[in-house]
Amino acid sequence: MLDILATEKYFILQHLKAGDVAADFTMGNGHDTLFLSQTVGSEGFVYAFDIQPSALVNTEKRLTDNNCPNNYQLICDSHHNAKEYIKQPIKAGMFNLGYLPGSGNKAVTTKRETTLKAIEAALDLLAPDGILLIAVYPGHEEGEIEGELINDMLSLMDRKQYCCVKFRIINSPTSSYFYIVESK
Ligand SMILES: C[S@@+](CC[C@H](N)C(=O)[O-])C[C@H]1O[C@@H](n2cnc3c(N)ncnc32)[C@H](O)[C@@H]1O
Repeated sequence: MLDILATEKYFILQHLKAGDVAADFTMGNGHDTLFLSQTVGSEGFVYAFDIQPSALVNTEKRLTDNNCPNNYQLICDSHHNAKEYIKQPIKAGMFNLGYLPGSGNKAVTTKRETTLKAIEAALDLLAPDGILLIAVYPGHEEGEIEGELINDMLSLMDRKQYCCVKFRIINSPTSSYFYIVESK
């Protein structure tokens, strides 16, 4: 059966290599930050964002426990402010939208207004031959609307500049799905 997380990583690894710069726009417990940090290695760099201070604590621990090199900056701010922190092009950006599973606080979820602004910022930062991955969780109301708005936004993007793809299990409507945006 399809492993959606492995599939997401497969697409990212077609673009992201050792020495590159990447961003995790929804740090959470740091699983994606760890993947990005390990992929770019000591010559690369990862910026990671979350609005919950506990996300930075948990991610720092995960990175340290896994002996990651000092190749990251954990930022406690909303991802729509990314351009205030990132001053260089990124080869990959990951959005894992929604709320932190198991956190007990479903109110701290990504929200459509800031998510769309953050995706715009990520597109501005994206290097040629780069990739954005945006995972959506339609099992809650805000997630469902977020996904529809992202779909509308990406559908209108210039095909000469970007290739936008949706990857969804169509017989499981509440399962997470993802978009990739590849820059030419
Ligand atoms: C599904 S979780 C991310 C899981 C994470 N990638 C991991 O590997 O554990 C979504 C995260 O987005 C964060 N978040 C919500 N709104 C945000 C915002 N405006 N800017 C940055 N992060 C935000 C939440 O606090 C939550 O930790």
